Order: sequence, then C-alpha cells, then structure tokens
Amino acid sequence: MTHVMIVPEPVHASLGEGSFTLTPDTVLVADAAAREVAALCRAAFAPATGFPLAAAEAAANAPALVFRLDPALADLGAEGYRLTVTPREVTLRAPQPVGLFYALQSLRQLAPPESFRAALVSDVAWDIPCVEIEDTPRFGWRGAMLDVGRHFMPKDFVLKFIDLLALHKLNVFHWHLTDDQGWRIEIKRYPRLTEVGAWRKETVVGHPRHHLKPEFDGTPHGGFYTQDEVREVVAYAQARGVTVVPEIEMPGHAQAAIAAYPELGNTGELLPVYTTWGVNENVYNVEESTLQFLQNVLDEVLTLFPSEFIHIGGDEVPKVQWESSPAAQARMQVLGLKDAEALQSYFIRRMDAYLTERGRRLLGWDEILEGGLAANATVMSWRGVQGGIDAASAGHDVVMAPNSYLYLDYYQSENRDAEPLAIGGFVPLEKVYSYEPVSAEIDAEKAHHVLGAQAQLWTEYIKTPAHVEYMAYPRLCALAEVAWTPAEHKDYAGFVARLQTHLRRLTELGVNYRPLDSME
Ligand code: ACM
Repeated sequence: MTHVMIVPEPVHASLGEGSFTLTPDTVLVADAAAREVAALCRAAFAPATGFPLAAAEAAANAPALVFRLDPALADLGAEGYRLTVTPREVTLRAPQPVGLFYALQSLRQLAPPESFRAALVSDVAWDIPCVEIEDTPRFGWRGAMLDVGRHFMPKDFVLKFIDLLALHKLNVFHWHLTDDQGWRIEIKRYPRLTEVGAWRKETVVGHPRHHLKPEFDGTPHGGFYTQDEVREVVAYAQARGVTVVPEIEMPGHAQAAIAAYPELGNTGELLPVYTTWGVNENVYNVEESTLQFLQNVLDEVLTLFPSEFIHIGGDEVPKVQWESSPAAQARMQVLGLKDAEALQSYFIRRMDAYLTERGRRLLGWDEILEGGLAANATVMSWRGVQGGIDAASAGHDVVMAPNSYLYLDYYQSENRDAEPLAIGGFVPLEKVYSYEPVSAEIDAEKAHHVLGAQAQLWTEYIKTPAHVEYMAYPRLCALAEVAWTPAEHKDYAGFVARLQTHLRRLTELGVNYRPLDSME
C-alpha cells in the first residue's frame, strides 16, 4: 500500500500519476446539501492561497473541486467518504455531509502544509497529488475530554480545540464543565452557580501532597460560558462533525456548587470554591430537593446540547459524609438501601431514569458500576480497562478512556525535569499509539459494545491554552489513528514518518505541540 501523508491514515489510498493544481480559476461545485462543507473548504484554502474558489453550477471548463452527496456510497457508513484527485478535477463524495467534511480534511492534508497558514503564501505551487481514497472510521466514538473546571479555557480556544479535533477526524468533544474548583456553565434558574461557583480565591501551588503546609498563589481564578456561548460552541462543533457531550459532575466533585448553594451539601458548612486538588469529601446530599435541583440543571443542559449522551460524572465519591450524616442515613432507611455504595447507585439510577425518559443516555465514569449499574447507563472506563471489560461483558456500551494509555495530563517523557509540571504518570506518544480499545478479554459477540476511545486532558496542572496544546499534540494524532484506522494497518514507524509532515501543518496552524523526541 502506498502511504499518503494523512493522519489518521485512511483505510484505502492509492496514489496515481501527476497532480491537480489549485489556481485562481479553480471553482467549487456543490449540491445544495454539500454547500456548507464547500464553504468550509473555501474558508480553509482562501487565506494562504488568496484564491476566490468561486461557486459554480457545474464543472464546465474550469478546474473544479466537486462535492457530491452520493447515497450509493451508503456502504461506507455514516462518516465514510471517497476522494478522487485527477489532474482535471477533485471529487469528494459521501453518503452524508459529515463524510464530505472528512473528505475535505483529507484533501487539506494532501495539499502543501503551507495551505494551513492564516496569511497569504506567495511562493508555493498548490499541487495536490492524484489519488483515490476510500475511507471510513473503525469506531463511532473518537473523543477528547477537556477539563475547564480546574482551569477555565476561553471560548475562542475551545473553538480552536474543536477545529483541531475535526482536522484529525475526532468526533466527540467531552466538555467537563463542573468540578470542585469551578462551575463553568450558566444555569438561568440558579445564577449563583456562576456568580459564586465560577470563581475561586486562589490556587494551590505545585503538588499539594508535596507540601505539609500548602502554598497558595493569591491569585483569583475563574470564568464561565454563557448559554449563548454554549450554543455557539455546539453549533460550531456540529458544522464540523463534532458532538459536544457535556459533563455535569454528581454526586462528587461538587464543592463549587455547594459553595453557591450550601443546602446542597451534607454538613451545612459554608464552603469556598475549592482551591486545591484531589478527591474531595464535600459531595451532594441525597435529599429529594437536591435531586430535583440537579434535574432542573439537566433540563437547561438538555436544551443546549443535542447530544444523545449526557455525562454525569459519578467518579471519586467519598462516602464519609453520607456515612456520618443523620439525614443521609435516614434516606437510606426509607429507601431500604444497605450502605452508601447502594445510595450512590440509587442516585445514578434516578438520573439514568430521568435522562432516559427524555430520550437521552446517561454516561458516567466507571465508578457507576459500583453498587450495580443503572439499566440504560454507558460506562467510560478510566481506571484502566477493567471497568470497560466488565460493562461490555454485561451488555452495556462503553467508551474506553483508560488513564494508563489515554490520560494526556500525564508526562510524555521519562525525563520529568525537562517537562512542565504534570500530575504524574508516563504516557508517551508510542504508548497512546499502541492502545487497542477492544480488549481480548471481551467476547467477540460483545465487542460491538465498545463504542470507541477517548483521551483526557485534566487541567489541574495545565493553566493555559498553550499548555493544553503541548499536552494534547501530537498525542491526539495517535489517538485519532487508534480510533479511526483499522488495527491491522497500524504501524508506529509509518505514523511517525507521516507526523513529520503533519507537524508542519500544526506549526502553520499555530499549535504549540510537543516536538518529537529525536529517536522518533
Ligand atoms: C477521573 O479521572 N477521576 C475520571
């Protein structure tokens, strides 16, 4: 097989002779249903080339890029596409608009890397090699999570982050919107969630466990997204084939919300928005009024996010407050629950039922398996792969997000001194690339429950967009190949060879990626 310099590597690609050259006369021809993708194509190539790429009715005499929805290609699947480049014409065909969008991403990567520049480039021939590509993803869930709770990330960066996901044919942006250290989404019914919960007084310096007496930076930190901004992000993502999955954490990681509304907590204590890191005992209480509060929050979330999946967290819920709270003990008695694990399970089942009644699906971290899994729940396996294996084997859908392979907040070098401070761990590029989402421990007839794979960017130690990019790239390039490319095509040396070209594209896009180690 001839390799084209595309990341993730397409399923089939055969290079031909010669090339198509973009010129000032090149036109775009698009069916009505393909016009949005054609407009994105114009926007992608116009800045560097300076060419108008005018819309035309049919490819008469001018050299053309032709976008066609083609139901006959339905066998390629909802996201598949065919891309044909000849010296006269480039044809992008797909059964659905998102496939045309992916054909465009491959076309962009066939063009010279300078085509990604945001400013006019005058000394490059815009040659695109003749090729025939037929391509479709291995998995339907190709995701990345960004934690904006620990450090708020501006909306414009979120849009850039989504653009970069889409360039790599990643299709899920999991937006971790609430945590102990900040509540980041406007909820109209509960304004204090952002008036109070979006702001913390200061932030611990370094690793808190390394200090007997923690040091704080004395600098306030915060921010949130208005509902209008959320709608803008969701629409932007949708136009690029990306589903935004919101995460509203419960019943743990709740201190920012409890700071805003103390009646949601177990102790009555007036808490600040949390200023340090780690697993926090201040979890929601289990009163009916608190469940109602969270369902009211979810009602607004559901109007903003069309995603079928809604993530409710569920991870790292210390049970000490429930165990010592007379009110929680009384609830357990009334509900006939034997222990706090069962209470957590009850909590998640209530949310599962609530979302299911509204046509959505609950997604939670693998702790939701403890105490029994809710009927319709989908599990995101983060503490290694066992939770995913167990849930898939029991017939539940799973998204594989193991910390051992896909936590991009972990170090990418063994030489920690040469890297910015990170939470710990060691997940170099090759380790990400080596990940196989369908464990051999899952029976073949259950393998379809593995929806795909997702990388995580937790931001305790990642304070800026530039640092997010340093941790994300090129490791998200490797994830893209894990989730898109057939397992039997994977080849680390070939991937690294393609990355040499691909990183030039990321340079043009102003991405602060981590350079490859010299032996790669
Ligand atoms: C997690 O890392 N607590 C999901």
